[in-house]
Amino acid sequence: MGVSRRRGAVALAVGIGLLMTACAKHAPQDTLKPNGPAARTIDHLYVPVFWIAAVIFVLVQGLLLVFLFKYRDRGERDERPEPVQLHGNTKLEFGWTVVPAVLLALVAAATLPTIFKLAKKPTNPINVTVVGHQFWWEYRYTDPDIGVVTANELHMPVGRDVYITEDGTLRKPDGTLDADVIHSFWVPRLNGKTDMIPGRVNHMKLKADTPGVYLGQCTEFCGLSHANMRLKAIAETPAEFDAWVQTMKKPAATPVDGDPAFAGYQLFTSRGCAGCHTVDGYTEGLVGPNLTHVYSRTSFAGALFDMSPANLSKWLRNPPGEKPGSRMPNLNLTPDEISKLVAYLETLK
Ligand code: CUA
Repeated sequence: MGVSRRRGAVALAVGIGLLMTACAKHAPQDTLKPNGPAARTIDHLYVPVFWIAAVIFVLVQGLLLVFLFKYRDRGERDERPEPVQLHGNTKLEFGWTVVPAVLLALVAAATLPTIFKLAKKPTNPINVTVVGHQFWWEYRYTDPDIGVVTANELHMPVGRDVYITEDGTLRKPDGTLDADVIHSFWVPRLNGKTDMIPGRVNHMKLKADTPGVYLGQCTEFCGLSHANMRLKAIAETPAEFDAWVQTMKKPAATPVDGDPAFAGYQLFTSRGCAGCHTVDGYTEGLVGPNLTHVYSRTSFAGALFDMSPANLSKWLRNPPGEKPGSRMPNLNLTPDEISKLVAYLETLK
């Protein structure tokens, strides 16, 4: 028993060690490596609180171990006299009440300004309304000069705040809520988590110091593919961002008879895709992501798969098989229909 338990403990320690090494090497979602003002504000609170807590932990657990060892039961050979029995010690009791109270007051004093700082509305932000769906993100750029709708990949210029409104009160034309269940939006290197709750409105801000792709994901259990509900925040230079907006504002590609993509374009309406997806000026589905410029994105299906003809084909063959719980049903498309549809999707850039 003793040996196997010791082996178990060693295996656990080695496992945790390996896990930590692996995390340190490839940690695109490392909240301890902030790369924006909001995440840094949180980090500046987290680090001192962590060290205060660590010192107390070591002190308390250390003393506990010392006393456990020193005063352990030595059986019948224990010839030490009974310790002096005490009742009440005003100094001690006063001490262990006041010291933790002071420590917690210090932590609160540091936490309150952080909360207000994070909640402060930024000046001149880019406004984006985010809606959580099972299992993907919808972004609506609501500033009149942008006016873009996209999914999963949030574009943002570096050095400028994005003010995110997680609006759970928006409704479709038929009166049902856009939002389905509670999700939580998290880009660890840019800010903390904020829940998106049907019927409520929450806000958060994101700003990146340097260009790059910041990975994030849903962090509130929302169903079968909660773990597959990923996102990318793509921070780019202001010029690149403007170019992206211009691309997104272009009308959708519309193949004409004779184009290789024309058959897929027709299948898009006849095989049911149009019932759920919008392609601006062509279809008006409001269930799935807007596909007007889908092929300009680097990933799809909740940023789960890299964008490629092969991955799109695999996806169209059986969406719930690729991503459990997917609202997109298996339409029993034939291989020929799939290749035609993928040829059309590739033109939606
Ligand atoms: Cu959405 Cu978990």
